[in-house]
Order: sequence, then structure tokens, then C-alpha cells
Amino acid sequence: MVNVLIVGHGAREHVIGETLVNGGANLFSFMSFKNAGLEDLSKKVKIHSETDFREIIDFCQNNKIDYAVIGPEAPLVVGIVDALEKGGIPCIGPKIEAAQLEGSKVFTRNLLEKYNIKSNVKSKVFNSMDGIESYIKDIGAENIVIKPEGLTGGKGVMVYGDHLFSKEDILNYCLELVKTNKRLLLEEKCIGEEFTLQTFVDGKNVLGSPLVQDHKRAYEDDKGPNTGGMGSYSMEDHLMPFISQEDVNEALDDMKKTVAAIKVETGVEYKGFLYGQFMKTAGGLKLIEYNSRFGDPEAMNVLPLLKGNLVDICWAIINGNLSPNFKFENSATVCKYLAPEGYPLNPKSNEQVKINIEKIRKSGAKYYYASVYRKDGKIFTTSSRAMGVLGIAKSLEEAEKIAETGVKCIEGKLFHRKDVGTRALLQKRIDHMSSLLNK
Ligand code: AMP
Ligand code: GLY
Repeated sequence: MVNVLIVGHGAREHVIGETLVNGGANLFSFMSFKNAGLEDLSKKVKIHSETDFREIIDFCQNNKIDYAVIGPEAPLVVGIVDALEKGGIPCIGPKIEAAQLEGSKVFTRNLLEKYNIKSNVKSKVFNSMDGIESYIKDIGAENIVIKPEGLTGGKGVMVYGDHLFSKEDILNYCLELVKTNKRLLLEEKCIGEEFTLQTFVDGKNVLGSPLVQDHKRAYEDDKGPNTGGMGSYSMEDHLMPFISQEDVNEALDDMKKTVAAIKVETGVEYKGFLYGQFMKTAGGLKLIEYNSRFGDPEAMNVLPLLKGNLVDICWAIINGNLSPNFKFENSATVCKYLAPEGYPLNPKSNEQVKINIEKIRKSGAKYYYASVYRKDGKIFTTSSRAMGVLGIAKSLEEAEKIAETGVKCIEGKLFHRKDVGTRALLQKRIDHMSSLLNK
């Protein structure tokens, strides 16, 4: 048996852990916050800071861990892989230099520009307010996206027309960032439909998984503030109705070029999972961002479809001999996130969540614990997303129904987006795309 450590505490780590256990792993979990799902799946858990590398190495050595899978970005961008590998523990995740693809948006834009990677977006970096006004004048306020350089949990990016409505709004937000000594990017705003392509990378080979579309906005019909993601879907043909196989090939090609560029630029091979967020626009595919890990919720859409063994895939990533000897089931998936009422602005934490396990099993839905805690056998909310509920079926309609039935088996002061995975919302995306392409 292989002893595998998972680092992280969310629904993404719960589904990764489940897939590893299905592949025959003895699971061990190291997390800053106890995830009830991982607790149930693991031989042993340790609750401690996910960036205390000395403690993680000790835990690995005491439990004869064969390799560690790193779920979240926070430990990756501060060098968990470098530290654990020095301690003799192979890892699934990029080393610190390669994790800059997520950790620094400035690094990524510069890399894509230097290596002529087609899906790059025009952008300019600023350390102070100098030059910002004239840049806005050059490209037009209505074409601006503002991005703080580092990690923001998906909540620091401001887009004109969504969050910013005048030149003053742009200048005020830039000033706020500059005052806290943050480098920022002003980036060209792209208009189109987004999709997520999650890949397995062994340093050279980049193998894809089914496309997923996430829903960042808190409320139905894409209204309200941005969140970590309120739900996501994937289609039985692994594409999107508005994204062709040629588009996927192009995206994958740019991801391969990026992995090759990382090696040349930093001397380090990118190993682990690489997440590409792309937008299809009238001007072609655009890279919105890279993440150095699986997505949350998107991991829940693809890992349960895996026809292959994740434990072996991880060995192949470590050994640099990944080959396309695994597939994904031809099913559609819909994942709905339940979040505490008031999330993300004013979430109700410490409220009980009652899961009717018998009923949810009968519904066919799967469920994953996110930011909830278990006390005396009961589950309670925190200030972040609570549970992911997943439907898998032959069609999107059926998968959506299963997810909704599953959601009804969970009670509490929670809300979710009923429109995720519905035909009506999908049609809106299709119409949007065709109106842009036929202009
Ligand atoms: P990020 O944290 O980079 O994923 O950005 C969060 C969200 O902001 C993305 O999912 C997009 O919806 C939006 N966004 C980021 N960059 C751009 C861009 N250049 N053009 C339009 N929208 C963007
Ligand atoms: N769903 C977006 C992310 O994982 O960053």
C-alpha cells in the first residue's frame, strides 16, 4: 500500500483524498482546519498550519509517507514542495519558482510575452500612481481590469463594468493598492465566455481533463459580488457547447508552451496540477489566469469521472513519465456550492448544518465538506463556502436534477445558486458567444 499525504482542508482536498483512497492509497491528512470528510477517509490527521514545513516533514517521516499531494495555493507559493523534497518527500505540486505562475500575475504576463504565447493579454505593471492616468487614457477606461499582483482568493480582481464604473473608480482602487505597497497590473478587459482546463503535468507532458465552467458571482443570473466559486458544470463530451475541440487543442498547446517556458526561464520543471482559466473572445482565446493546483469547485467535476488510478498518475508525475493511459467517463456533472447565508459579505457562521445522509445517498448525489467544522458529531458553518453537492449523469439536465435533489437533503442557514447547470443559463452563454462571434 502507498501512504499518501494530502495537505489542505477544503472540498477540493476532500475529493482529491477520496480519489486517492479509491486508487488504493492509505490516506493521511495535514490541515489547518479539520475537514470532516478527510477525517473519515484518513488513517491519521494532523491539525496544524499548512505552511509549517518542519511539522509537515516530521508528520511524513513518522508515518512513512511515500509522497505528498498539495491541494491549495498558499503553501505552494511559499515553497512547500522545495522544503518537503529537501526532507526526502516527493510532492505533487510545483516548486516555488514554478508556482509563481499563480503567485505572481506580473511574472505570468511577462513570461507569456517573452515566449510569444498566443493567448496572452495586453497588460502593464505599476508600483505607484505614476503613469496610470495616461495608460487609462491610452486604452480607454471601459477596457480596464485591475489585478493586485499576488494571491487574492479570487476576490481582488476588479473589472470595469462589473465592479468599476468610472475613471474615478479605477483611480481609487489603484490608489488603495498602491498605498498598501502592492504592485498592480492594468490589463486589457476581454469579453467572452470563460472555461477551465485542468491538467496533469510531469515537467514535460501536459494531459488535460474535461472542461469545466465555474460561476464566480454570488447570486443567480451572475449578479452580486465575486466569490471563490458558487458552482460549476461539465458536459458529457468534455467540451462546452461554445468551445470546440480546436479551442481545447489551442489552450492545451499554450499550456505546454508555458510549461516549457518555465523550465527555460527558471531551470525548474513544472510538476503537479496546472489549471488554465481561458476566455473565448471574438479575438481568439485569452489566458485569464493560471493556478498551480486543481480548482475548487472544478476538482469535484473532473476527479469523480476519472477512469484510471490517481495514485499511479501521481507516481508518473513524480517520475516524469506521465502517459495518456487514463480517461474520463463520458458523463455530465453539476456541482452546487452551499454557502452560509450572507456569504461572502456578511456570512452567518457557527450555524448548524444537518445532512440527511441516508436521503442524499439515495438521491445519487455526492457531497464534499468545505469550510465547515464538526463538533460533538454535528456540522457547523464558518464564514466561507460550506458544502459542495455533485450530480453526475448522462446529460446535464439529469446531473442538475440530482445535484438539486442532493441540496434538498442538507438543511441550515445556507443558500446556493439554483441556476448553475440549468439549460436556461447554458443557453444564455451560448447566445452570448454567438452574438460576439457574429458581430
Ligand atoms: P482571476 O482572479 O484572475 O481569475 O480573476 C477573477 C475573474 O475576473 C475572472 O474569472 C474573470 O471573470 C475576471 N477577469 C480577470 N481578468 C480578466 C480580463 N483580462 N478580462 C475580463 N475579465 C477578467
Ligand atoms: N474556482 C476557481 C479557483 O479554484 O480558483
